[in-house]
This record gives sequence, structure tokens and C-alpha cells, in this order.
Amino acid sequence: MSITIPKSARALLVSEADGKIRSEVVDRAVAEIGGGPELENGVVIKTAFSSINYKDMLAATGGGKIMARFPTIAGIDGAGVVAESNDSRFKPGDEVLVNGCGLGERHDGGLAEFMRVPGDWIVPLPEGLSLQQSMAIGTAGFSAGLAITRMLENGLEKDNGPVAVTGATGGVGSLAIDMLASMGFEVHAITSKQDSAGYLKGLGASEVIIRSSIDMQGGSPLEKARFAGAIDNLGGQTLSWLIRSAKPFCPVASIGLAATPKLDTFVFPFILRGVSLLGVSSTNCPMPLRQKTWNNIAGDYKPTHLGKSMVRTVTLDQLDAVFSAMQKGRIVGRTVVKF
Ligand SMILES: NC(=O)c1ccc[n+]([C@@H]2O[C@H](COP(=O)([O-])OP(=O)(O)OC[C@H]3O[C@@H](n4cnc5c(N)ncnc54)[C@H](OP(=O)(O)O)[C@@H]3O)[C@@H](O)[C@H]2O)c1
Repeated sequence: MSITIPKSARALLVSEADGKIRSEVVDRAVAEIGGGPELENGVVIKTAFSSINYKDMLAATGGGKIMARFPTIAGIDGAGVVAESNDSRFKPGDEVLVNGCGLGERHDGGLAEFMRVPGDWIVPLPEGLSLQQSMAIGTAGFSAGLAITRMLENGLEKDNGPVAVTGATGGVGSLAIDMLASMGFEVHAITSKQDSAGYLKGLGASEVIIRSSIDMQGGSPLEKARFAGAIDNLGGQTLSWLIRSAKPFCPVASIGLAATPKLDTFVFPFILRGVSLLGVSSTNCPMPLRQKTWNNIAGDYKPTHLGKSMVRTVTLDQLDAVFSAMQKGRIVGRTVVKF
């Protein structure tokens, strides 16, 4: 298969001037995309789909210090077809995806018509997923899958009781609920959105709990042990409450900081109940675990609700509205960018 590589490609470029972050869609010379010494064995990918993750919003709006250098093309994931390869593991026409590894942070990312990345970062598209599905899942779903893998390795069992998911209507939350429910777990969705019960139950949640109805500020070192596992996207009091509410020898996975990056809690859940607090890093996940997680997502964990209620499709020119909704915590589900 031969793909013509044009001289320039459209891309969401993030730059900095006078301490202010600016992001705009530009025409970027393909020869300049993803350059640098690490790319002697680089692979050029014609991007078919990317997606919008919370970190992309932080990078593009300056809401967090995400970019290691400027200017950099945003986008922490992307999927497409190999157009040119100096790496013997990949040939033109191969369908592949990339997520994490510094993409859209210290290296030009997936929000561009073409990417150029080292072969070591590339995951062949797992059997059972289309390119579109792989980005409907994207880094959000990958992180949910990685949390599930880590929890299964650390005591998560179906017969132990419900699994809690916070930030439930967001990208990570929606996919975590979908995957866990599809695997047969009882899922309790914890959300701030009063009107989201229909959506969350449609994904497979058996209970929907409005976060403000829980007294998380109580200073009790141990709450009633009610969860067999938990996936947290918020941090702070919510994560502390989940840790204090986990059953003995059950795992809690920390994925996000949508509320705060801080955590102040008690050690009693760890030293009296044997609770495990597990970290999830989609950026720095080692490649064997990354490939295994993607294969699990395409197989045993496969989400079953990647339709229109969870996933919307936009173009590069429509991202301002997506970033704005995400900043306000109003986003529901996933946003795929189609090229
Ligand atoms: N560790 C990793 O590798 C990794 C990978 C991907 C994402 N993340 C992190 O995981 C988190 C979720 O990512 P996402 O892609 O799912 O984002 P998202 O789609 O924007 O969803 C975040 C959800 O969190 C809740 N929320 C947002 N702002 C909040 C606030 N100020 N206080 C309380 N709740 C708030 C909302 O859900 P409800 O209204 O339903 O509560 C929102 O829909 C982010 O912090 C992101 O940076 C980490």
C-alpha cells in the first residue's frame, strides 16, 4: 500500500508567548513533525483518528504544565496507517496506534494529519478493534483497562462486592463502567451530574450515587467497608473516602486529578484492612504491559457501548467547545477527532 506524504499537514499546535499558552490549527511541514535525534528509526503514520483526553485540554488551554517544550503538536493518542517506515517491524499499510510515551507532551502528538514516532512506541492495532474504536477508547479507556489489569492482579474479585467508579460520566469513568460491567462486575457509579442516571445505567452501572450525597469530609479513619475495588478520577477527599471504604485486601486505583492533585488520608485502611492503592500511568506504562492491556481491551475487557450515547466525533476545527466543556466538568463520554 502506498500513501503519498504531502508537504504539509493540519495540526493543533500549542505554543507559548509571554508566559501565555496559545493553541491553534496550523499547516505544519510534515518534515518538521516529530523530528529529533530519537527518530532515526522513525515511523510516519497517516492519522485516521485521535481523541480528546483531559490532559489534552490541560495542554491546549494552559490549565496544566503538560508540554515539555514549545511549540508542540497536542494529542496524547492517535491511530492510523503507516505511510513510511525506517523500522523493520512496521511497513506501509500497517494499522497502528500510539498513546502515552510522551506523545503530545515532549513529542509532537496525535492531533495532526500525520505523526512521526519511534517504532518502540507503536502498538499494532489489536485484532477485534477498528481504528475508530481504538480512539473511541483512546488513552481514557487504556487507563481504565490498565487499572482493571492492576486491580485483578491485586485482589479484585467479582464475588467480593461492588466496584466504585468516580468521575463516572467522563471518558475514563464511562469506559471503566462499560468494561467492568461487560466483565460481569457490579459497578457503582459516583457522579456529580444529577441527571446522568439513565446514561450511567445504560453503560451497565447497577447503582448511581450523586457525590454530594456522600459525606466525604468526615474525619473517620475507616468508613464502612463496602467496595471490592475502586477506580478514582478525582483525587483528594474522594480518593481518601474510597480508600477508607474499601473492603479488606481490596484494590483502589488512582487514575486522575479532576478535582485536585492532593491526597491527605489515614494509613489505617492499609495497615488494618490491607487495602492496596495502585498507580496508573498511561504515559510511562512499559511496552509489554501496554500491549497486554490493549489486547485485553480488545478481548476480555471489550467495552460494548461505543455507540453514539458515549462517543461523539469532531474535527480539528471544533476543539475549542470540547476543551471548554471539559474545563467545566460538563463532558459526558468520549470525543473522537476524525481526520
Ligand atoms: N493516570 C493516567 O495515565 C491518566 C490517563 C487518562 C486520564 N487521566 C486523568 O483522569 C481524569 C479523568 O480523565 P477523563 O479523560 O475521564 O476526563 P473527563 O472526560 O473530562 O472526565 C472527568 C470527569 O470528572 C468529573 N469532574 C470534572 N471536574 C471535576 C471537579 N472539578 N470536581 C469533581 N469532579 C469533576 C466529571 O464527572 P462526573 O460529573 O460524572 O463526576 C467529569 O466528567 C483526569 O484527571 C485525567 O487527567 C489520567
